[in-house]
Amino acid sequence: MGLKMNRNLVLAIIAVVVIGGGVYLLNQDAEKSIDTAVIKQRIELMRKDVLGNFKVVKAYVKDGKGSMADIETAAKGIQAAAGKIPALFPKGTGRPDVDDKTTRSLAKIWDDWGTFEKAAQAMGAHAGHIAMYAAQENADEVKKHFGLMGKEGCGACHKPFRGPKAEK
Ligand code: HEC
Repeated sequence: MGLKMNRNLVLAIIAVVVIGGGVYLLNQDAEKSIDTAVIKQRIELMRKDVLGNFKVVKAYVKDGKGSMADIETAAKGIQAAAGKIPALFPKGTGRPDVDDKTTRSLAKIWDDWGTFEKAAQAMGAHAGHIAMYAAQENADEVKKHFGLMGKEGCGACHKPFRGPKAEK
């Protein structure tokens, strides 16, 4: 009798370990797919909302193309994107935790989060100024803040926190 109970207990423990292990592995997989999704989302944000709108302002600043109304809309798009950046960079979604082909984000982002956030805020603040000055048709100030946005926003973040393109 005592022996049989022990056997049942052992079987129960094995079942818990096997089923529990399976659930654990499933969770691991789910976590991985969430990470990749957030990486894709932020790359999409950088390409469309950030670079796409950046090009609209740049076309005006460099070549005098487009209207002040276009610039105002584009700058507001960049400003909105800036606020979305921090949440799209959860810890552990950069190199080397994730492979080089999937992300160019460096682990340094989470070692120096304050500087990272500051660059996102600078991008948002200058974009806000661009929108405001575009509404006032103040071309000089639009140009000035476009330059500062590139330097204190894109550049201040890409230089320390974005690694080189992965070799194909
Ligand atoms: C707060 C940090 C930060 C700011 C500000 C920032 N970026 Fe980025 N950007 C990144 C990081 C990090 C990546 C790499 C994302 C990844 O691969 O996980 C990236 C990627 C990109 C990409 C590449 C997308 C691809 O195809 O791989 C483009 C384009 C881009 N940024 C444009 C810009 C422009 C233009 C600005 C300024 C107007 C800007 N970014 C501002 C951090 C930033």
